[in-house]
Amino acid sequence: MTRKKHTDASPPPDAPSEVAPTEKKNEKAWQAALRPRNFDEYIGQRDMIDNLKVSVRAAKQNGWALDHFLFAGPPGLGKTTLAHVIANELGVNLHVSSGPAIDHKGMLASLLTGLSEGDALFIDEIHRLAPVVEENLYPAMEDFRFDLFIGEGPHAKAVTMQLPRFTLLGATTRMGLLSAPLLDRFGFHWQLRYYDLPDMVAIVRRSAALIGITIDAPGANEIARRARGTPRIANRLLRRVRDFAAVERDGSIDGDIAASALDRLAVDHAGLDSLDRGYLSVIIERFDGGPVGIEAVAASLSEERGTLEEVVEPFLLQVGFIARTPRGRVATAAGYQHMGIAAPSKAPSGGQGSAQGRLF
Ligand code: ADE
Repeated sequence: MTRKKHTDASPPPDAPSEVAPTEKKNEKAWQAALRPRNFDEYIGQRDMIDNLKVSVRAAKQNGWALDHFLFAGPPGLGKTTLAHVIANELGVNLHVSSGPAIDHKGMLASLLTGLSEGDALFIDEIHRLAPVVEENLYPAMEDFRFDLFIGEGPHAKAVTMQLPRFTLLGATTRMGLLSAPLLDRFGFHWQLRYYDLPDMVAIVRRSAALIGITIDAPGANEIARRARGTPRIANRLLRRVRDFAAVERDGSIDGDIAASALDRLAVDHAGLDSLDRGYLSVIIERFDGGPVGIEAVAASLSEERGTLEEVVEPFLLQVGFIARTPRGRVATAAGYQHMGIAAPSKAPSGGQGSAQGRLF
């Protein structure tokens, strides 16, 4: 089973294994249409939003370029959305790129020289920048300067280009992979958290209203509860449940149709999909609850280690179904319980005091 970093519920058993390109495009357009456009529309992450509001207001009042900010956290929590919101609030253009896309120095030069005064540049997956690109980003971030060499060998001439003042908005799913010099050059780092249930319910209701779907409180609650504290997943599940409601009902969503559709989509009541459950069952059944190394789990699932680390594990850790120990991953008693398997006495509790209570 292969899943890309943009996590989702598994397709129903009769669905084609690859999502058609048009479906992916639709999905992107759909998510973009549901994006909040300003701070007031943004639901959740209140402390971060309140702080960002102050920084944006200070920059606007004083004609400063906003500091460079870094947003970290699992996929789907709104890092790209925030970049759009910030650029909108500043009234500047947002240029969007990503670490892997900027694969040589010339590409970075062309991005930077295409900026206008005050613009924001969003670099997603910034931990994947090539070292040579990253080194050339430092003077751009610090002094709005870009150093070029014209010609080759002993006759090469260094030319310094002055860049407009700009704001770099970086996003990463892997804060730990960022080099210290790059981290140092950001004015602040924000770690996005999984959204709590009331925020998720509000996001589902807002999205449903925007696309004209009638949904009652139990319906919104059911989708919100199973969306892993992640707005992108909530919007995706809403769309899938809408399909079931349109075919099997009058198109409106209540708690029953939401629960029955999500069951059939193999998204369980805690929001775990088949990959999450596969991960838990490998640890519990094949490795006796752990500790087990990530490589062994990845090999057992024929899954990329990166997907497990960036997508699967953060949520399972958050809800307390697994724990990390110096010797590897272990299933907690709560993880065993979720899988309906009796926990051995060695399993750490994981349940009480974990984030599970806060999220759900
Ligand atoms: N906060 C994060 N994502 C959001 C969304 N899609 N809509 C409203 N608020 C959000």
